[in-house]
Amino acid sequence: MAWTKPKRRTPSLRNVALTGPYMHDGRMTTLQEVVAHYNSGGKYAENRSPNIFPLGLSPDQEAALVAFLQTLTDTSFVNNPAYGPPGRLSLH
Ligand code: HEM
Repeated sequence: MAWTKPKRRTPSLRNVALTGPYMHDGRMTTLQEVVAHYNSGGKYAENRSPNIFPLGLSPDQEAALVAFLQTLTDTSFVNNPAYGPPGRLSLH
């Protein structure tokens, strides 16, 4: 079979403020960096989606987008002991 360039799966943004560093190789440390990357139109790739293009966001709009991403944090999920490390669950 012919070699095809790898594609990336679009990840969920749920709890994204807690899951850095970002991208498949962790090259970005903060959500600010991620948003600046998208705002710039991303890097060239042969198979880059046409949906990745320069956005023309102002610094205020970039900050608003970061703030929005922070609202995707589900604290009741991340603090639920049922999803915590085993052994801390009380069964009675
Ligand atoms: C301004 C709009 C966008 C925002 C704020 C955004 C946000 C993010 C964030 C925060 C990540 C890192 C997730 C992680 O590492 O856990 C990410 C990765 C990714 N996003 Fe977006 N995204 C946007 C637009 C898009 C679009 C339009 C596409 C598809 C055409 C896309 C496809 C992807 C893919 C494939 C990755 C994984 C890349 C990798 O692992 O190297 N994103 N995005």
